Amino acid sequence: MSITQNPIGQLFIKSMLRVLIGKKQLQFYDTLNWQTQSDRFRQPDLIYPHYYSSQNYHGIEGGYLNPVAAITYDVVAAYTAPPNETWIRQQLIAAIDCQPRRILDLGCGTGSATLMLKQAFPQAVVIGLDLSPYMLIVAEYKAQLAGLNINWIHGLAEATPFKEADFDLVTVSFLLHETPVEISQLILQECFRILKPEGELIILDGNQKRLRHAKWLIDIFQEPYSKVYAAESVNTWIGEAGFESVKTEYIGWIDQITQGIKPIVSKCGCESL
Ligand SMILES: C[S@@+](CC[C@H](N)C(=O)[O-])C[C@H]1O[C@@H](n2cnc3c(N)ncnc32)[C@H](O)[C@@H]1O
Repeated sequence: MSITQNPIGQLFIKSMLRVLIGKKQLQFYDTLNWQTQSDRFRQPDLIYPHYYSSQNYHGIEGGYLNPVAAITYDVVAAYTAPPNETWIRQQLIAAIDCQPRRILDLGCGTGSATLMLKQAFPQAVVIGLDLSPYMLIVAEYKAQLAGLNINWIHGLAEATPFKEADFDLVTVSFLLHETPVEISQLILQECFRILKPEGELIILDGNQKRLRHAKWLIDIFQEPYSKVYAAESVNTWIGEAGFESVKTEYIGWIDQITQGIKPIVSKCGCESL
């Protein structure tokens, strides 16, 4: 696994990681057979979309399809949600109005938000879905350390394997700025499909108003779709997907939470499933 082919660069990054991740955890990642472990999650018939497999994210070759992305993600995330990542994620939990029995965290990554959801609703069935089996390995490891029973699924957020009206709550954290606009819109339509009537959708992501004027910040993070994300409005997208009671709240320095409810009767006048 490599972020860079440059051996001095690799040495530097490893030393940094040892400090930031901790020796024990890095040792675990170092000795892990990523191929075998990722095969446990891998959906054999899943074809990675070009918008995902063709991009480098955060300067990592191969993006999330490189184990390095999974190892380094939490270290990077700690600095990308100022003033404090945990506090930002707690705002998502605080925004939940219902008592969900089935929760889906789409694009769950290494599971930081998924773990918090399970801690907040221990009786609920909690599922984390992500397109990177490597991110799921780390998510599962973190859940095991925390003693939490969470189901991890390898899949596409825009075409999940779930039946209609399956969830009381769907959360989406820091995913939509990483997908092309048309995919983000498909993801929201999918959220609408799999939520029960009166189910809640909560999206935590970059503050679009602020990011529009901070292109330099987007350039630092090296994310291929962030500029178009910043130019758009998640609030509008959610309304277009059929959600009601839509609202956006700006939190922290550069983040926002947008939420909506699936109506009992949809806009076409028909009853939602
Ligand atoms: C920036 S990370 C966010 C991870 C996590 N939600 C969090 O809050 O830290 C984006 C995640 O979305 C995943 N992802 C990107 N496109 C996806 C898609 N179409 N379907 C499912 N997961 C996707 C990536 O693999 C990555 O783990």
